[in-house]
Amino acid sequence: MRDHLIIFDTTLRDGEQSPGASMTKEEKVRIARHLERMGVDVIEAGFPAASNGDFEAVKAVADAVKDSVVCGLARAIETDINRAGEALRGANAARIHTFIATSPIHMKNKLRMSPEQVIEQAVKAIKWARQYTDNVEFSPEDAGRSEIGFLCRVLEAVIDAGAKTVNIPDTVGYTMPEQFGLLIRTLRERIPNSDRVIFSVHCHNDLGLAVANSLSAVMNGARQVECTINGLGERAGNAALEEIVMAVRTRQDYFPCDTRIDTTHIVPASKLVSGITGFPVQPNKAIVGANAFAHESGIHQDGVLKHRETYEIMRAEDVGWGANKLLLGKHSGRNAFRSRLKELGIELESEEMLNTMFMRFKDLADKKHEIFDEDLHALVSDEVHTPEEHFRLLSLVAHSETGEVPFARVVIADGSNECHAESEGSGPVDATYRAIEKILNSGAELQLFSVNNITSGTDAQGEVTVRLQKSGRIVNGHGADTDIVVASAKAYLSAYNKLYSKLERAHPQV
Ligand code: KIV
Ligand code: ZN
Repeated sequence: MRDHLIIFDTTLRDGEQSPGASMTKEEKVRIARHLERMGVDVIEAGFPAASNGDFEAVKAVADAVKDSVVCGLARAIETDINRAGEALRGANAARIHTFIATSPIHMKNKLRMSPEQVIEQAVKAIKWARQYTDNVEFSPEDAGRSEIGFLCRVLEAVIDAGAKTVNIPDTVGYTMPEQFGLLIRTLRERIPNSDRVIFSVHCHNDLGLAVANSLSAVMNGARQVECTINGLGERAGNAALEEIVMAVRTRQDYFPCDTRIDTTHIVPASKLVSGITGFPVQPNKAIVGANAFAHESGIHQDGVLKHRETYEIMRAEDVGWGANKLLLGKHSGRNAFRSRLKELGIELESEEMLNTMFMRFKDLADKKHEIFDEDLHALVSDEVHTPEEHFRLLSLVAHSETGEVPFARVVIADGSNECHAESEGSGPVDATYRAIEKILNSGAELQLFSVNNITSGTDAQGEVTVRLQKSGRIVNGHGADTDIVVASAKAYLSAYNKLYSKLERAHPQV
């Protein structure tokens, strides 16, 4: 029997800590349902004490997911733990993940606490969390830069207090693979009660070593890896789930364990997260990049055609390339449409919403003959507006002609008011943004504008991502349409709505 490697996905928590990657409650539920179908063991749904919005999102995920453990993050303080416990009340299986920093630099400068106080608080937090669930995880933040002797003392104390998982974070992505593996081995050997817990790791990618460090830890006894889809996460991100899972699966001759992930869901998960967050995947990204299975050189192509394994260590179809089923075309009925949405984990709130979505689907099918799952996800993201969406695009005319100055006219709903503006610009998108800004007068700085096609072909929907920055707040917005000028306008307004809503959230580690 091989050991089971627990996959703990933190896309919805650490992933969401990437600047601009915030997700709505509906989006989080959609991703969580996909992770559940994929066989992820633990889904960290968020940090409930961050804001009411985060609390509601964790609660919605806890209520929706049945087959994975749903986890909420909490600092090692009672109020945070209470929020997490309340948010997770509806979960089939709940976990509270509590943490406190243990490195000298964090204890002295951030917490201003002595090592003894840190141990005391950690133990209190575990005992408090156990009122809500037996499934309590503890993380000594910045373990990668903590003193080994102190780390052993803290971990022994929290295990005695009832922690079931101890997670060793390389919070700043500082360690080297051999060193990190040795750290896990040493902790397991030196802590007297270490056999009572699962050792977990949580590696950041600041030096590009998150996956290597995690795998080294697995070789030294870690049996849970915390990771995210596409490696999303704070700064340079976390270990990429798809890389961890496929490394362990492809090298079963090397690793003493395996996961229970259905790998055919990996590429759809990557596309879903990328579409929702607006963080594109680089073409040469392992497993999920567009080029990951493309052979360019003649020698490689020849080799692959003669015998696939010459240059391929994995099969594209095993990770879900080509799994985006063709949805019925413009003659499809409502029932077929509804059931495909259901298969994708998309549950619309009302019959009225289903009708609206069905009409949008028919419109799209008129413009684009083949509709794929990604198109449906984009359609839903576009249509399911949150209450904070105060500004909406009502209509847009954009004109571009060789030799003429591009021009745009927009009509925008500002709450219940209709606002009109027009402008010239260097191109139709520029003219549109200038016209929108005449209405919003936002003062926001446009930091990023990117266009990707959701599927292939010139009739594909274009997905536009916009990043705006104002007074230190960074938000991403995205919009999709077969007309990229319309998609651009939607993306701009979606970002601006987030700035306008002024939702403030606490950051767990600050
Ligand atoms: O990177 C980190 O240390 C974390 C902890 C909260 C686990 O995200
Ligand atoms: Zn982290």
